[in-house]
Amino acid sequence: MNKVSVNVKPKPYEVVIGKNVFNHFPAKLKSDFPERQLFFVIDKKMYKLNSGIIDGLFSKIKNKKSKILISATEKNKTYDTLTRIHRKMMRANCGRDCLVIALGGGIIGDVTGFAAATYMRGVDYIQIPTTLLAMVDSSVGGKTGINLDTAKNIIGAFHQPRAVFCDLNFLRTLNREEIICGMGEIAKYSFLTNKTFYDYFLRNFDKIINLNNAVLNKVISESVNYKRCVVEEDEKESGLRKVLNLGHTFAHAIESVYKHKIKHGQAVVAGLAMSFYLSAELNLISENQLREYLKLLDKFRNYISLPSPDFNRLYKAMHIDKKNRLNKIRFVLLKDFGNILLDVEAEKQQVLKAMRSGSEFFV
Ligand SMILES: NC(=O)c1ccc[n+]([C@@H]2O[C@H](COP(=O)([O-])OP(=O)(O)OC[C@H]3O[C@@H](n4cnc5c(N)ncnc54)[C@H](O)[C@@H]3O)[C@@H](O)[C@H]2O)c1
Repeated sequence: MNKVSVNVKPKPYEVVIGKNVFNHFPAKLKSDFPERQLFFVIDKKMYKLNSGIIDGLFSKIKNKKSKILISATEKNKTYDTLTRIHRKMMRANCGRDCLVIALGGGIIGDVTGFAAATYMRGVDYIQIPTTLLAMVDSSVGGKTGINLDTAKNIIGAFHQPRAVFCDLNFLRTLNREEIICGMGEIAKYSFLTNKTFYDYFLRNFDKIINLNNAVLNKVISESVNYKRCVVEEDEKESGLRKVLNLGHTFAHAIESVYKHKIKHGQAVVAGLAMSFYLSAELNLISENQLREYLKLLDKFRNYISLPSPDFNRLYKAMHIDKKNRLNKIRFVLLKDFGNILLDVEAEKQQVLKAMRSGSEFFV
């Protein structure tokens, strides 16, 4: 079992990573949250596949508790779902001292975190991520939110969890496409961290797909640890935290134009490719560097296919990105492993060219 401590105000919290860590959850509740009323928001599909483990553990929890099951789709990441959660919490008489628990992937984590941030002006919550993507990224750092129309995560709040439990057992029921999505975010972390992590990830790509516990433990811990450093320094994304958006300006546009037909993690991989082509176009990296970075993305090619893109629509969609200022698109670009440039601007033609090269890479 690995532990990463995230040192944020008002309360630091621990991310616990490993096989069977969910078994420690009742003891954590007993020691840190005795007597608290619990409200679980659970991913419906995941629950069906893991009800044995979950119900078994629930029977060990003595706190007063209630739950709601939600279908995890981007279409459900809305005000309607938020209202359903709040209404059920109200009817269950949840007070200010209740503890909300998100048990699911990034969609459940984001909407639950936002529900906790806004119920009675903010109550505590815990993240129990059940997808690889949520383990390495969305469950840590306190970004919560929902979509509005086609704009992703446009409504939200920063609200840090009180604890995060990443139990590798949940990954057993996750399909390969979702594993690949999580690996897309790990790829991002490998570029952000250093060449050692990149090489390790490249070498162990197939072991991760096959859910090798030791390798998963390492790559999840490395990714979470990188995110921890960034979040501790810049919790509210006024500067450094923007590095986590590497590839995401393109990815969010791809997701919104294709109305969520392409998954976030897949869009991130495509977005990384486009951002590397843009780095090359702006002479921030050499041809050799580009080739090196694409080596890892090449491993994803068998698992990702993009719908034939309308580049002008993608370009237009990028203007809704939250990082933009004065209607100018701002990119996060890689200069080298661990060397990231923020707020880079580019000409429309350069961006279109990078998008074309990036999408052709996955044909
Ligand atoms: N808050 C953040 O910092 C942050 C960071 C990255 C991504 N996100 C958000 O995360 C979301 C994507 O998260 P995700 O990739 O986890 O997707 P998700 O929550 O949609 O889950 C993917 C699918 O896996 C199913 N599932 C979940 N756990 C399962 C399990 N153990 N076994 C079987 N099926 C399971 C879900 O029902 C769903 O069908 C996006 O909405 C994205 O915007 C947020």
